[in-house]
Amino acid sequence: MAVQQTISVDLGDRSYPIVIGRGLLDGGFDLGEFVSGTDCLIVSNEVVAPLYLDRVLSSLNGKNVTTIELPDGEIHKTLATMQEILDQLVDSRANRDTTVIALGGGVVGDMAGFAAACYMRGVAFIQVPTTLLAQVDSSVGGKTGVNHPEGKNLIGVFHQPQVVMIDTDTLGTLPDRELKAGLAEVIKYGVICDVEFFAWLEANMQALLDKEPAALAYAIRRSCELKAEIVAEDERESGCRAILNFGHTFGHAIEHCLGYGEWLHGEAVAAGMVMASELSAVSESDRTRFRALVAAADLPVTPPAIDPADWLSAMGMDKKVRQKKLRFVLLKALGDAFITSSFDADHLQRILGAD
Ligand code: NAD
Ligand code: GLY
Repeated sequence: MAVQQTISVDLGDRSYPIVIGRGLLDGGFDLGEFVSGTDCLIVSNEVVAPLYLDRVLSSLNGKNVTTIELPDGEIHKTLATMQEILDQLVDSRANRDTTVIALGGGVVGDMAGFAAACYMRGVAFIQVPTTLLAQVDSSVGGKTGVNHPEGKNLIGVFHQPQVVMIDTDTLGTLPDRELKAGLAEVIKYGVICDVEFFAWLEANMQALLDKEPAALAYAIRRSCELKAEIVAEDERESGCRAILNFGHTFGHAIEHCLGYGEWLHGEAVAAGMVMASELSAVSESDRTRFRALVAAADLPVTPPAIDPADWLSAMGMDKKVRQKKLRFVLLKALGDAFITSSFDADHLQRILGAD
């Protein structure tokens, strides 16, 4: 018997549940209930489909299902790959009643959601995230898109799913490096808006690294609750949602400058969050505590060597830039983040490694 918890993302007529539990893909959850028409396209990739596609298919008994397996990896998060999804929708004569189901990590979820948003100006979409990062972050909130050669996630739209179904058992097959990358986004929630959760993470990091089910279930639930609250307040990031990008201005630049896939998104965000904490006017003890938690998750606390001019050029493509001015999410204290365009430019240069 599957144990489930449900969190609601409250967005008026675009509201939806996030269902979290074990065994949901083994008959514990009726995904078909959220498919309004008869036709679905499951978008997965060459790694995840062999592991979980059969189970998703069995939960869609009676539906007319087609599937597409994308190549694996951030390097394939492109308009060209999205075109493959659109071609599949056209080939299968999908219509406005078709539901697109994303089965995989954030790369699959972001691209499948973008294709669902574009096809016939928008069809229904379901998220079945299978990485920790996707379960705590990318599957919730409706950001979809692809990378451009000049910048990360530059092309995309907001398109909310009908439901997010998180079967935490899928983490059993997730490689350790990917689990740790997901922990970066979990740590992010604690440091930006919930100091008690931050302290809980300090006490439970080893249990999370050991994939203890109770610890993972709590971390996923709390992360989703926090993200749902922020998204409900600011769906399209005109205000407070920007704090979810803590560390991402630096992190996206790392991913772009090294080449997509060299550092995982979560690894780049981890080092980026430490850089953002250095730029913040927080106490030395808060900064030390934060760095220690990132290190305890076995994530990078220092950035790779990148020329300061390349840093600045990559960060100039950040979506938070206004009137050509960089804006950063910084900390007032642990659990208290804000967005600002006012920062110490000399200090930034030193953080970027300039003399
Ligand atoms: P990913 O999708 O590349 O998945 C990581 C790896 O794990 C891949 O090789 C994948 O095939 C594999 N995998 C997935 N599930 C597995 C499982 N259960 N068992 C074994 N292997 C499995 O990476 P990710 O970390 O999930 O997502 C990163 C992406 O998410 C980035 O592109 C980032 O920009 C995006 N993102 C989007 C949002 C958003 O709000 N939309 C938020 C955060 C991150
Ligand atoms: N991952 C940042 C956001 O969803 O806004």
